[in-house]
Amino acid sequence: MNLNAWQIYKRLLSYLKPYLGFFLLSIFGYILYALTQTAFAVLMERIVAEMDAPSASAYIYLPLAIISITVARGVGGFIGTYCLDRVAFSIVNELRGQIFSSILQLPRQKYLQHDSGHYLAILIYNVEQVTAATTSAVRTLIREGATVIGLIGYLFYLNWQLSLLFFAASPFIALVISYASKRFRRLAKNMQNSVADITHRATESLQGNEVVKTYGGYDSELLKFQQASEDFKRQSLKMTVTASLNSPIVQFLVSSALALLVFVALYPGLMQPMAASEFIAFLITAGLIAKPLRALTEINGPLQRGITAAKSVFEVIDFSGEKDTGSIDISRAAGKLEFKNVNFSYAEELVLKDINFTVNAGETVALVGRSGSGKSTLANLLPRFFDLSSGEILLDEVPLQQYKLDSLREQIGIVNQQVVLFADSIKANIAYGSLSAKSDAQVQQALEIANASEFVEKLPQGIETQLSEKGLMLSGGQRQRLAIARAVLKDAPVLILDEATSALDNHSERYIQQALERVMQNRTTLVIAHRLSTVKNADIILVMDNGEIVERGNHQQLLQQNGLYAQLYQQGFEEESAVSESCETNS
Ligand SMILES: Nc1ncnc2c1ncn2[C@@H]1O[C@H](COP(=O)(O)OP(=O)(O)O)[C@@H](O)[C@H]1O
Ligand SMILES: [Mg+2]
Repeated sequence: MNLNAWQIYKRLLSYLKPYLGFFLLSIFGYILYALTQTAFAVLMERIVAEMDAPSASAYIYLPLAIISITVARGVGGFIGTYCLDRVAFSIVNELRGQIFSSILQLPRQKYLQHDSGHYLAILIYNVEQVTAATTSAVRTLIREGATVIGLIGYLFYLNWQLSLLFFAASPFIALVISYASKRFRRLAKNMQNSVADITHRATESLQGNEVVKTYGGYDSELLKFQQASEDFKRQSLKMTVTASLNSPIVQFLVSSALALLVFVALYPGLMQPMAASEFIAFLITAGLIAKPLRALTEINGPLQRGITAAKSVFEVIDFSGEKDTGSIDISRAAGKLEFKNVNFSYAEELVLKDINFTVNAGETVALVGRSGSGKSTLANLLPRFFDLSSGEILLDEVPLQQYKLDSLREQIGIVNQQVVLFADSIKANIAYGSLSAKSDAQVQQALEIANASEFVEKLPQGIETQLSEKGLMLSGGQRQRLAIARAVLKDAPVLILDEATSALDNHSERYIQQALERVMQNRTTLVIAHRLSTVKNADIILVMDNGEIVERGNHQQLLQQNGLYAQLYQQGFEEESAVSESCETNS
């Protein structure tokens, strides 16, 4: 959905509703604060007048007035800022929750469209921008707006002719200010880009440290970083120049206007003579007006920033989650799977073409084929990570989309190449999510079946051992076995093994092979492998090429066909079966 600026305003306002009380209170505080400015100008007039002709009570009420004004200013400012920030922080909190919830429910396709940095930036940075920018705009509007109105009113009350004269000079001041703020915005944007560049360079070099070192990237990385850093320095300096020239120029213009006032007021015969106290009050008030006026002219910048940020935030919140219109709740499926004329494409090109096969409950189907032939894609259709382009997939004779999404996913355990481990204890990683109620004994048993208990017991705190970020302290094989343990604990009737053993050394592979064979018993298993002995024992083997099933049958039949399977077998399955045979003799 594409929101225009007005819709975004309205939507932001709707977030304000629950906090309307605090918001009104902050307006009250800021108006009080603003009035003290005018009160100060009036006070100056009174002081000078009383100096001229003291009244009996002046020595009491003037000092009291000074203190009251200051106290009122402090109280007003505090109430205004506290209440407004309270509203702002509450809204950030609420928006963050909504963004995160939306991100968790994103369809897989959406994750693939952007890198995770995109969503992180929205969650962390943009959301702050929304309130920081709009809050500062609102603060300025109320506080400086009320100040300016009060001061202008007082000016006209004192002498309307001089006021008009003074305001004749203001367009020049406005011009300087608007030039400076445009430049500011451009520089601020440049600086943001520079910072992004610096971070980008640094993270890339940190993450790719090994490549940088082994391929001699030191000099080029250093050079690129220095360029980015140098660029930031230049932008910062330009910012300083603009900032430090801006205010003397504005001050010069304001004082020129004031000089003109003094000239006109004092030039003989040009104006009605004013009381000294009023003239001084006039000059002071005119001087006071410059700053809030300037703040008001700069209100648009942050407001625009806020609107832009809000737009990206709302876009994420508005993402539609996964389609979940099914109504069937199954406690435990038997596990019969059926693909009927299934076609699928990520974008335009069909990645799966007319897939048809059936697996009975408890059977194993193996997918074999070159990389890129569509095996993982086919497996990802079962938990409905993606929706079909056409055709049907049935679980226990019922189309997948008729099940509730949660209920469907309950039925499926997955172990794939990329093991996901969280920075938590081993136990929490195995008994994750809906498995969190499982007992320690059940976790231990799952580790046992997954051939993982041996190494877990050697860890300092056993299953309570905390894994570092992404479990990097473990070897690939160990991580893989933890992933298997997680699937074992889930004990789902359908199991997907997507190259669960690729990229492992023979020793770990043997362990994992054993573990997998135990896990596959009594469930429907879809196993994807280049070089797995399980393929030989599968009830059906489907050979995929370019999105199609080109051969099917059991090991013997396929070898006799002497087609693609036989070819793949020659290339890779031989060494693999040698490994598994030695494994069998060992155990
Ligand atoms: N998320 C995706 N978006 C677009 N194309 C994809 C995506 N994932 C895989 N593909 C493409 O789909 C085809 C099948 O990929 P995949 O199922 O991963 O193959 P396999 O698992 O057999 O190696 C490949 O051509 C691949 O480039
Ligand atoms: Mg794959």
